[in-house]
Amino acid sequence: MTAKAKRLDFFEEGIFIKINKKVVEMVAAGRKIYNLSVGTPDFPPQEHVMAALAQSALKPASYKYALRDFPDVLEAVANYYKKRFGVTLNHAEIMAVHGTQEGMGHLGMALCNPGDVVLLPDPGYPVFEAGAHLGGGEIVHYPLLRENGFLPVLADIPPAVYERTKYIVVSYPTNPTGAVAPKSFYEELIEYAKKYDFYIINDNAYPDIIFTEDPGYSFLSLPDAKEVGAEFFSLSKTFDLCGARISFFIGNRELVEALSLLRSQLDFGVFYPVQRAAVAALSGPLDFVETQRMAYKKRRDALCGGLCQIGWPVENSMGTMFVFAKIPPQYDSSEVFAGLLLEKTGVVCTPGIAFGPCGEGYVRFALTQPAEILEEVTVLIGDSGLI
Ligand SMILES: Cc1ncc(COP(=O)(O)O)c(C=O)c1O
Repeated sequence: MTAKAKRLDFFEEGIFIKINKKVVEMVAAGRKIYNLSVGTPDFPPQEHVMAALAQSALKPASYKYALRDFPDVLEAVANYYKKRFGVTLNHAEIMAVHGTQEGMGHLGMALCNPGDVVLLPDPGYPVFEAGAHLGGGEIVHYPLLRENGFLPVLADIPPAVYERTKYIVVSYPTNPTGAVAPKSFYEELIEYAKKYDFYIINDNAYPDIIFTEDPGYSFLSLPDAKEVGAEFFSLSKTFDLCGARISFFIGNRELVEALSLLRSQLDFGVFYPVQRAAVAALSGPLDFVETQRMAYKKRRDALCGGLCQIGWPVENSMGTMFVFAKIPPQYDSSEVFAGLLLEKTGVVCTPGIAFGPCGEGYVRFALTQPAEILEEVTVLIGDSGLI
């Protein structure tokens, strides 16, 4: 008998595990590693946020099952959405999850019936696919191509596919491509969702890490968005709270109710101190967000600018904490190129193929080290003879 259910065959041993094994070997051999693979922010959370968590963690009552979202946390999200994005929400339109990863991972189970199509980006953030698969959805990918600004061409998706679609996942600014989307893209998508009766799930992970002059936005601020969709709003990146797991699923009440009903069978709520940290983060001063955005921009400039200088013409990322670099033309495999880069320079990046077939031909760098280190990285790559 095999322990593993067949549905887990979908999650074959990924590229990330292979890369990690290689990194461990190199570290053991004393090699210096520059890990630009995983998108874990290196900025600390705000002091007052950590203090709120710590104070709550010292109270015995905090260790009970949370069971529900604190009214304070729902109110803090509603106030934040009003102030930051101009979106009016009531508490029934907001729920906490243990990070977008967890919420998205469970979403398919909450929404899909047999035969339902889930439309997902290629390349795309892997949990979109995991959630649809676990929920038994039929996954149909839409390509994100550089020539289209890494936006889907909605008219290219056949009406017969839209008619069977339960939900589409979109996310801008996008991991891994670093593209941003104009509001007109979401407006068009809302019209399609109304016409063909499907839901839009927006992963709003990076509204505060954008390098253009446009401030990030919530798609819920657009007309009729709440009728047809909801979004995940994570505190991991804007507030550097990725280890204190919390994100919010916000918008269409029926979508929120469906995910909430499923989770009521699986979970007893987010640890109170983490909810307290979320209240402190959302209600506190926000000036550091701009400082952080500028620091990411400096890193983006250091990496993209430095790579261009050594003869690797990498396009500027428009947002997120990632740079999606087209690999030099003499290579035809992102996995092979990433392996050589690691071997010769100690720089760890993620092969684009890890995000789907349309990611082939690219590697992704995370901007998770200071600009000076990224400059060092570009010099090392320049000296490696790989470009
Ligand atoms: C697009 C996207 N969605 C979600 C996440 C994970 O968010 P969370 O920490 O809330 O699970 C990430 C993290 O890198 C991401 O890039």
